[in-house]
Amino acid sequence: MVKTGVILAAAGRGERVGSEIPKQFLKLAGAPVFIHTLSVFESHPGISEIVIAVPPGWEEEVASSLRRRGFRKVARVVSGGNTRQASVKRALENLSPGVELVLVHDAARPLVSHTLVSQLLRTLEREGAALCAVPVRDTVKLVRSGRVERTIPREGLWLAQTPQGARRAWLEEAYRKAGEREFTDEAALLEAAGFPVCVVPGDPLNFKITYPEDLKLAEVLLTLDIRRNL
Ligand code: C5P
Repeated sequence: MVKTGVILAAAGRGERVGSEIPKQFLKLAGAPVFIHTLSVFESHPGISEIVIAVPPGWEEEVASSLRRRGFRKVARVVSGGNTRQASVKRALENLSPGVELVLVHDAARPLVSHTLVSQLLRTLEREGAALCAVPVRDTVKLVRSGRVERTIPREGLWLAQTPQGARRAWLEEAYRKAGEREFTDEAALLEAAGFPVCVVPGDPLNFKITYPEDLKLAEVLLTLDIRRNL
């Protein structure tokens, strides 16, 4: 079996949620958000190791919380950078030598499921690079200063989620080629480097906790244990 590593991006400050503590460390449904997220990868048979990027200063606390909870696949806790891209790059440099496929996932998406991870892994093994995404459901407006400038046809528009991933060699090359240019996800980096990226239908429930209301919704869904039974 191909050795697959997961990079968990958990080094953001999550300012839009409006809390002192970064959103990925807030407690929801009995555990911090990032623990809910990690558990999905820890318990997935296709994943061999996890490297997690955390904000500088959080390394010890996170490492000891993982030890206490008995996580076995987390190989390293690294300190992240100023951007998501810098955090993922640092984690990528810390994956074990034998890892050939890499998934990247936002710690702030705790509702990821085994089904989604398995579907992504299947596509990755076949195609080399892929991301989870959902088709845009609503009509899209370009708005400036509170007025509609125009309506953008939604046909062919998809919203990118994580997990995303690629062959390790592709991802490393994409990071090398990106240099100082900033991208908001790995798929964009891979596209810019000229690699073909496949789309796997994602899940609307796999949303990213971004605003305070997302915390409430995630708490309800986690309490219902909605993903774990899939
Ligand atoms: O800020 P945003 O919600 O887009 O962040 C997406 C994910 O990337 C979050 O899980 C966040 O913790 C992570 N991140 C990171 N390093 C940064 C900024 C964000 O790992 N410098």
